[in-house]
Amino acid sequence: MIFLEAARAMAPWITQLRREFHRHPELGNREFHTAETVEAILASMKLEPRRLLGTAVVCDIEGALPGPTVALRADLDALPLQEETGLPYASEIPGVMHACGHDFHAAGLLGAAKLLSARRDTLPGTVRLLFQPDEEGDGGARRLIEAGCLAGVSAVFGAHVRPELPVGQVGVKYGPAYAASNPFVIRIKGQSAHGAEPQLGSDALLAGAQIVTALQSIVARRVSPTDSAVLTVGSFHAGTACNILAGEAVLEGMLRTFGEESRRRLVAAATELVTSIARGLGCEAETDFTWGYPGVVNHAREASLVLEAARDLLGPEAVTVLDTPTMTTEDFGYYLQAVPGCFYHVGVGCDAPLHSPRFNPNEDALPVLAALHAQAAWKALQAEL
Ligand code: NI
Repeated sequence: MIFLEAARAMAPWITQLRREFHRHPELGNREFHTAETVEAILASMKLEPRRLLGTAVVCDIEGALPGPTVALRADLDALPLQEETGLPYASEIPGVMHACGHDFHAAGLLGAAKLLSARRDTLPGTVRLLFQPDEEGDGGARRLIEAGCLAGVSAVFGAHVRPELPVGQVGVKYGPAYAASNPFVIRIKGQSAHGAEPQLGSDALLAGAQIVTALQSIVARRVSPTDSAVLTVGSFHAGTACNILAGEAVLEGMLRTFGEESRRRLVAAATELVTSIARGLGCEAETDFTWGYPGVVNHAREASLVLEAARDLLGPEAVTVLDTPTMTTEDFGYYLQAVPGCFYHVGVGCDAPLHSPRFNPNEDALPVLAALHAQAAWKALQAEL
């Protein structure tokens, strides 16, 4: 089965859907209009969508032939950003915009649903569609898994649009593809005193400054030079006046790593470093690392399967095996901790980056995304038989 021609024939329909989502972006866990639209379209295909978590839509396309279940996932939420594209179908909601392509993802998955549901009589198994809320916020993926969306699923696939890849190009990264994130807050407690009598207090600002500098040694000296991680302190607040020793300092930042082992090791090393520097300067430090998204680590078999599907559809020259992961985060990693799968990149060739108010992906990529989802799911079902 080659889905590209059929997907191209329905390009105007998919494009219209994408523009509908684009005009009406909704923030995480508030995707009510989006979820209703998704449900109505699936119902028009004689499918039976189920609503979970308030704004998630899960729907099975059951083939006439017996077989396994594979899942395809799209995210639905938009970003708190004022659109500046000037497009005729620009966001109608002030301060909210689909600047991460989740409108593309939702429309592309509905396109795949149409391709697959029209071929149910020869579909060898079940394709479960996951329309997931709140990717940008608090891990809608994790909550959707807890709600049971992966029951019986043997493989899961998802895609993200990428502006730096031209339309018609697909990128697949084996192994670690997106970083794990650990946002952190460090609270340093010292003792205020007169700026002229520092010996009577303990300077939380000085401890904070030493800690910011020392934290840079975590990546420089605790990570192999051939591996990667990044630690950024993004805010530092301390002190009230020029002649008072700061009694408190608060630092906030983010640690990004690849793989669970590195993540645990670096969090422990940073905590130890912060505590001992603060103590050495007569202060106390409390370090609070939040366990954020786990990172996306693709499974080799499923990554190969997406590569094959992309080559079948678009030819070998359209497919790139990516050799560098991205330091950004994506909650698709939760699915990959539960079942094997692959999260891949689809080119939408545009100058503005993701999360830019001028992000304007090329809509010619919509049928490519729909066809590739359908192709990968079909291939995965056949592979599991
Ligand atoms: Ni995104």
